[in-house]
Amino acid sequence: MTDTSHDRLLIIDFGSQVTQLIARRLRELNVYCEIHPYQNVTADFIREMSPRAVILSGGPDSVTREGSPRAPQDLFEMGLPVLGICYGQQVMMEQLGGRVEGGKISGGGGTAEFGRAYVEPNGTCDPLLFGWFLDGPEQVWMSHGDHVSKLAPGFEVYGTSPNAPYAITADLERNFFAVQFHPEVHHTPNGKTLYENFVRVAGFKGDWTMGAYREEAIAKIREQVGDKQVICGLSGGVDSSVTAILLHEAIGDQLTCVFVDHGLLRQNEADEVVTMFRDHYNIKLIHADESDLFLGELDGQSDPETKRKIIGKLFIDVFQKHADTIDGAEFLAQGTLYPDVIESVSFSGGPSVTIKSHHNVGGLPEKMGLKLVEPLRELFKDEVRALGHELGLPASFIGRHPFPGPGLAIRCPGEITREKLGILRKADAVYIDQIRKHGLYDEIWQAFVAILPVRTVGVMGDGRTYDYACALRAVTSVDGMTADYYPFSHEFLGETATRIINEVGGINRVTYDITSKPPGTIEWE
Ligand code: XMP
Repeated sequence: MTDTSHDRLLIIDFGSQVTQLIARRLRELNVYCEIHPYQNVTADFIREMSPRAVILSGGPDSVTREGSPRAPQDLFEMGLPVLGICYGQQVMMEQLGGRVEGGKISGGGGTAEFGRAYVEPNGTCDPLLFGWFLDGPEQVWMSHGDHVSKLAPGFEVYGTSPNAPYAITADLERNFFAVQFHPEVHHTPNGKTLYENFVRVAGFKGDWTMGAYREEAIAKIREQVGDKQVICGLSGGVDSSVTAILLHEAIGDQLTCVFVDHGLLRQNEADEVVTMFRDHYNIKLIHADESDLFLGELDGQSDPETKRKIIGKLFIDVFQKHADTIDGAEFLAQGTLYPDVIESVSFSGGPSVTIKSHHNVGGLPEKMGLKLVEPLRELFKDEVRALGHELGLPASFIGRHPFPGPGLAIRCPGEITREKLGILRKADAVYIDQIRKHGLYDEIWQAFVAILPVRTVGVMGDGRTYDYACALRAVTSVDGMTADYYPFSHEFLGETATRIINEVGGINRVTYDITSKPPGTIEWE
């Protein structure tokens, strides 16, 4: 539990895939909340935390199963507003005297419901449903096998869907609300209003901001680390940068950053990172220029997975070598985000197919015997950007497009040579300059040049050229999982191709990649 002067909301987690999204919706409303697994939440725990309201999350279990998770029974005697979602609704009904039955998934009269459904109003339930049903039925997202078959005493039905006669229920006297669907997900478009109404009923002031998060994160880091030394791998990306600056604010010189320069960075990138962190922020920084090592090992390699594996393995070795020079380090800081946490398990519960072995330092802490500090673990990418802003990182830095761990290696299909990397860096710089000049940078999720492993014939002046072809890539995306190509104008593409060919020696042909993801991937390898 974190000490905070804010009103708190307790989310009791019964193991839903989307519990974190409840927290996200609440944080968007500037409400401070904590998620705690149901196993840890006793009546005393709640009294000590003294939340202003409680939300019971969804979960995969069935309340009809003996021994399945419950909320502490005393919770319902504490006078607190409670909102139950899906499994949370069923827990409330079961514990308060109603009944829940197992749903039939297929066959006639099935009551299980997965995916989109439409809820119709049934009477008025203003505190919770203010702003709902203004334009008729509301789209919601259902994901339940079991269903409520008898309401607990005191509850009324305020919304129904074809397969959920108790889609929205409430006991308005006690401020108990229970819904069968998931208001926290994107596919319940008006779900945020429901949370807004719930926290208004509970009397939250909405005073929890990124500024408050920063203070609390700093306090937590100090408590965890004490007077020990911490190492932080810096890549130049937003996540590791925000992690480093937050840590530096919390523990100052107990932090040393290690920046592994694998020789696969963009133009001036290494200099910019070193200048910003060492000179501007005054953070202790080891700049490990290991480009000879990486490029040496990559020499002659053209298979994408082999290249990725070489880089991944060397990165860990090199990081460890430099980290070993820091006396008494006990912690490793990582910019792990919430999506990294959930993406590690696939929805089917098994390992998902490897399309590309992503470069990360996942195995490092165990190998080095270090404990982890992950201050961004609960945040989504846009929240990390907001925190970066709060910490004073320049806007141009915070808004930078993502850059992959293996760097330019995966933008140079086939064999990597210093010559090709040099050409690629220059072409990429011209392309990004064009995008910025045309004011398009922030509309694009990611843009870069790939140098192709092919030379083509051209004519410049009166002479023949035989130089590399390159491909421009620019995509729009929300999370990098799916993407579409950016619809540049022909003028833009023509002007950019001319500039690249005129300004970058070694390239005589420019193409634009219009593949979406899927079927393509964003990077070329
Ligand atoms: P793909 O190419 O898989 O890329 O469509 C999706 C997003 O992930 C980035 N990417 C990586 N990021 N390590 C990273 O940190 C990697 O190994 C890696 N591979 C791809 C890519 O730049 C895009 O944003």
